[in-house]
Amino acid sequence: MNWSVLKEHKERLANARIEGLFASDRGRAEGFCAQAGDLRLDYSKTLIDDGARAALLDLCRAAGLDRARAAMFAGAPINDTENRAVLHTALRNLDGGPVLVDGVDVMPGIRETLARMADFAGTIRSGGRFDDVINIGIGGSDLGPAMVTAALAPWQDGPRCHFVSNVDGAHVADTLRGLDPRRTLVIVASKTFTTIETMTNARTVRDWMTAGGGDPARQFAAVSSARDRTAAFGIDPAHVFGFGDWVGGRYSVWGPVGLAPMIAVGAEAFHAFLQGAQAMDLHFRTARGADNLPVMLALTGIWHHQVMGHPTRAVLPYDQRLALLPGYLQQLEMESNGKGVTRSGAPLEGTAGPIVWGAPGTNGQHAFYQLIHQGRQVVPCEFMVAARGHEPDLDHQHRLLVANCLAQSQALMRGRTLDEARALLAGRYQGEELDRQARHRVFPGNRPSVTFSYPQLTPFTLGQLIAAYEHRVFVEGVILGINSFDQWGVELGKELATALQPAVDGDAPPEGLDPSTRALLAHLRQHRG
Ligand code: F6P
Repeated sequence: MNWSVLKEHKERLANARIEGLFASDRGRAEGFCAQAGDLRLDYSKTLIDDGARAALLDLCRAAGLDRARAAMFAGAPINDTENRAVLHTALRNLDGGPVLVDGVDVMPGIRETLARMADFAGTIRSGGRFDDVINIGIGGSDLGPAMVTAALAPWQDGPRCHFVSNVDGAHVADTLRGLDPRRTLVIVASKTFTTIETMTNARTVRDWMTAGGGDPARQFAAVSSARDRTAAFGIDPAHVFGFGDWVGGRYSVWGPVGLAPMIAVGAEAFHAFLQGAQAMDLHFRTARGADNLPVMLALTGIWHHQVMGHPTRAVLPYDQRLALLPGYLQQLEMESNGKGVTRSGAPLEGTAGPIVWGAPGTNGQHAFYQLIHQGRQVVPCEFMVAARGHEPDLDHQHRLLVANCLAQSQALMRGRTLDEARALLAGRYQGEELDRQARHRVFPGNRPSVTFSYPQLTPFTLGQLIAAYEHRVFVEGVILGINSFDQWGVELGKELATALQPAVDGDAPPEGLDPSTRALLAHLRQHRG
């Protein structure tokens, strides 16, 4: 990939100010936006100008985005270290045509499973038998359903949903406290049905239920592609919802992994969530050039990380119900693109995906925004805000939220000069003290951000937003020449944990254990009592 043209644009823009770009292009505010339905992405508060944007779009073309995208949607085995297709898009291809994997149309199976989920969810919601639902899963089998359930709280009219993920017994113990083992439904969500955390928690909850007079045979369901293992665990096949190995864990919320949110909000709202994603898929496949929202989202990412060298990006939803989105996107982006080699196995020349982090606004403002505004490192920010909240009687609070969101991106761009700071303080200080105090109030400004805006956080909008981020990850992966759909980097730690377990339990430490781990083990064993 030829990055030199982009480096030239970086040098050309070395002394440019974002505000200056607005001064020289009166149409910038509208021209540096992409819109998909009523989801709008404003990337005008970045240093990307016409020339840089054209070069970024050239990069996409040169990387073969059109061909790669067609291959993904067509079910080609683009996850080529596992020889798997990547077809989470099929899970929301509600009224689309056939999708072939090895010559077989997967759509009838997807529709049938969705219909079974809707029936099951309907029974649980209306049957009056259950007050609580516990989803036991981790990674993609937890972050997606937990995030969607929280985001769609205004639609929640089913039983309460809880999410247990951590193998730390504190998580399951705190969750079970106060629940009735006879009136709780348990969903064990694990694609592989081997994940140690999930299986350990599932056994703990099964014991709790049995001891409390519940009936695991009737109160357990499973979401998995491993039917033999769900059967061995004793889960009624009628309560098992499967999906193909062509859906990666972090892309799986659109199918059976979405069972908990479907029970929480109902099949109709869940359907609207899928429709939003399907609309984004269509947009991603058909919108050309700079009109393509996920492509432009990806290109802002490439510009800020690979070209400008900013190591992280912050996800800052001004939407409390998206509080779990930064964590969800951490897995989506960092497990997908946190890679060190290209598809051919050659080391990457630069870095791959950035570090993704964040928290909802306005809370973050009172915590880490100090660094974002005045720290020496630049953190590109991704803001999200709705025109309307869901609490009409609290509209004044929503307007305060909107003002804060807009003010933050404005402050990042504008900054405050030393002269402006001096002028502010002139009445309070003089001479050297005026100068000293003023320096603490300088904001460098010229800090980039993008802003998503939408009428209201609905199931449809949420589907659009999440699908846009999925496609961003895909486009960035294509440009970098990496496989975004495997996750070999999680394996070594799992293997070593298994090998260390006997020593933690009391056996002699394994041969050749490094001195630090040996000493830590000894310290922890000494204090186990
Ligand atoms: O360890 C990483 C991972 O494989 C993720 O990719 C996945 O989302 C998570 O574990 C859970 O896997 P499973 O759904 O198979 O339990």
